[in-house]
Amino acid sequence: MNQTIAAKLLEWYDRQHRELPWRVAPSDIANGVIPDPYRVWLSEIMLQQTTVEAVKKYFIAFTKRWPTVADLAAADEEEVLKAWAGLGYYSRARNLKKAADMVVRQYGEFPPSQAGLAKLPGVGRYTSAAIAAIAFGEPVAVVDGNVERVITRLMAIETALPAAKALVYKVIEQILPPERPGDFAQGCMDLGATICTPRRPKCILCPLRGDCQGLAAGGPEKFPVKPPRKSKPKRQGAAFVAIRNDGAILLHKRADKGLLAGMSGVPVSDWTARVDGATGADAAPFGAKWVPCGIVSHIFTHFELELHVHRTNSAIMTPKDMWWSKAADLPHEALPTVMKKAIEAAVPNATRKLKP
Ligand code: ADE
Repeated sequence: MNQTIAAKLLEWYDRQHRELPWRVAPSDIANGVIPDPYRVWLSEIMLQQTTVEAVKKYFIAFTKRWPTVADLAAADEEEVLKAWAGLGYYSRARNLKKAADMVVRQYGEFPPSQAGLAKLPGVGRYTSAAIAAIAFGEPVAVVDGNVERVITRLMAIETALPAAKALVYKVIEQILPPERPGDFAQGCMDLGATICTPRRPKCILCPLRGDCQGLAAGGPEKFPVKPPRKSKPKRQGAAFVAIRNDGAILLHKRADKGLLAGMSGVPVSDWTARVDGATGADAAPFGAKWVPCGIVSHIFTHFELELHVHRTNSAIMTPKDMWWSKAADLPHEALPTVMKKAIEAAVPNATRKLKP
């Protein structure tokens, strides 16, 4: 029999699905068990933050403490935020609470469609589709990173991301089985997480290997095609490493806002200028006999920095809000990598932790 792609995937999912605390097994669904939208929603919001493994214990704790959306709506926001600690962005937890309030006070129950669900705070295109498909059986395409990988490989989609995403939606809309959209979505996710992995996919175990155009072309790992890397704007600046006669180095705490906020570092010039930033000793925060000792590079998310490092052994009065970090303490300071590089250009190995 010539099975469809969806049928092959569902057959594999029936046998090989992962058991997850928020998931209703396909055999239970076949016996009439209906997934609880509260549990599906809660799991999807938590999964926006971190891995399936990490979410399990949070999900179990949350649903034990707040078994229904009404319990969560009645909960104290501070308690919810506390229970969220460790899962990441608090804004997500705040939205979670807001959405629970909205469901209970405004709607009375979860809206049973993707369009309705998408009106809840914190619920975007992916999450609304996932809840609609899994909890309400709406035949909508659910596309996350795993699904993107599975489909771009299956169809050998040469278009690079993010433009490829529209094609992935089209493919899913054509192949998704209207009678089991939730299991199909979760089957795609499980396949991406366990078999069609980013590196070294286990094609030999894949239920879709006979259909996979990426495999037939000799290299599923080539897909999804990534967009060409944009070259980043270049900036330059100067860093100043003052060394006391006992080897201690002068540090300060960076401002609470902006780049490397709240971390420690040596004094630096402004890095906001593009390529015409100050690189010489005239940009130093205080006068001393500054000696150039090298240039270090560092790539930030939005720019590449060329940092001209200067050192001094001149005796210096400790400037306000700065401190001397002794050689033994320096490796334990909250120094971002770029600061470590600058210090090491002046004093090799100064920031390395010694092996016990
Ligand atoms: N990742 C996000 N949602 C998921 C789900 N429902 N099952 C498996 N992995 C997921």
